[in-house]
Amino acid sequence: MKRILFIFGTRPEAIKLAPVIMEFRRHPDSFDVKICVTAQHRQMLDQVMEVFDLRADFDLDLMQEKQSLLQLSGRVFSALESVLVEVKPDWVFIQGDTTTVMAAGVAAFYFGCKIAHVEAGLRSHNRFSPFPEEINRRIASVVADLHFAPTETARKALIAEGIDEKIIHVTGNTVIDALLWVRERVRQHPPQIAAEFDSIIGDRRMILVTGHRRESFGEGFEQICLALKDIAEEFNDVIIVYPVHLNPHVREPVNRVLGAVKNVRLIEPLQYTDFVWMMDRSFLIITDSGGVQEEAPSLGKPILVMRDVTERMEGVEAGTAKLVGAKRPRIVGEARLLLTDTTAYEQMAKAGNPYGDGNASQRISNMIRQHHRSSRL
Ligand code: UD1
Ligand code: UDP
Repeated sequence: MKRILFIFGTRPEAIKLAPVIMEFRRHPDSFDVKICVTAQHRQMLDQVMEVFDLRADFDLDLMQEKQSLLQLSGRVFSALESVLVEVKPDWVFIQGDTTTVMAAGVAAFYFGCKIAHVEAGLRSHNRFSPFPEEINRRIASVVADLHFAPTETARKALIAEGIDEKIIHVTGNTVIDALLWVRERVRQHPPQIAAEFDSIIGDRRMILVTGHRRESFGEGFEQICLALKDIAEEFNDVIIVYPVHLNPHVREPVNRVLGAVKNVRLIEPLQYTDFVWMMDRSFLIITDSGGVQEEAPSLGKPILVMRDVTERMEGVEAGTAKLVGAKRPRIVGEARLLLTDTTAYEQMAKAGNPYGDGNASQRISNMIRQHHRSSRL
């Protein structure tokens, strides 16, 4: 029996680890699974835990309003020691590139257990964009014993950094497992929000927006908000639905610039089920989110990415995503093109799944079982 400890703290980590945890729990004879949440996010994490019916064995409850990266990192390091001592995991699982991942990876390394990194090898090759995630994931790669790369591009990036190819496995991104599972549920039983928003949206084209990147705080968010205002004012047959991230640095400019615009709906962050319904219902998605960049192609939705660089180039190369930066004229220009030119729209609205086929979690759990079988030989 192997003791597996999943450590995570934010909304995207929870969404992307939920299917992996469910898969490990299907083998109670092989794995003793424990969950530790740092609660780097509080409300947005709890929303995901509820959707996937996950309960934390350890809840460190670390989130503070407007937390700084240094304060948060310090709290994660000190709080994890007693958890590691109590669980004595054989494997610690971490996912992605948040501060929780960086600190949990290093803590597990100091403690002396093996580390599996899910979504390994994403690189923008720019230390400051996304900040601090590009460096967080490189740190995770340095401490990990097994790397679950979502794509071939990610595998190559790890090899280029000197990681032994024998410990890298290409699995697909687990977000696609979560997305397909939830989409099926939502299509069979539309969530409550469906009825309400179906009548609000009516026959207007809906643009779904999310944004939260630290490198865009300040001037970037001013530009983003002004661009959305321009689009809403130019196209009155369009409605913009924007679930606003709980970060106060995001909420202030968004509420100030967009609060009174007639065809913009600012709403609270959505439960994952509701958000999947919203993506499925949208005409176009404008975002800086990593996870949404991976989900949109599976749903056949064109996506404008409000960043200058991305570690998720597969969508750009497949033609479903375009990088538009956090710049007002570019965001407005590219949105206008998709709203007025059917051919341009059709070219981007291609369904495809460059990020995974929905079986990544199963591959990961099989790999850990195989690893233990071969290490017994
Ligand atoms: C974090 C991750 C980022 C990830 C994002 C997903 C880091 C450095 N960044 O960024 O990689 O893309 O999560 O959303 O780890 N807040 C709440 N309630 C919540 C969540 C956040 O009030 O449920 C507010 C708090 O004031 C908090 C602030 O948002 O201090 C920022 O949260 P934090 O986790 O530090 O950074 P994010 O910008 O969310
Ligand atoms: N998401 C959600 N509710 C929302 C907005 C996003 O459930 O209101 C989901 C989205 O589908 C994706 C994940 O949250 O799976 C992305 O999280 P976020 O953008 O916060 O982080 P990132 O992926 O950029 O790290």
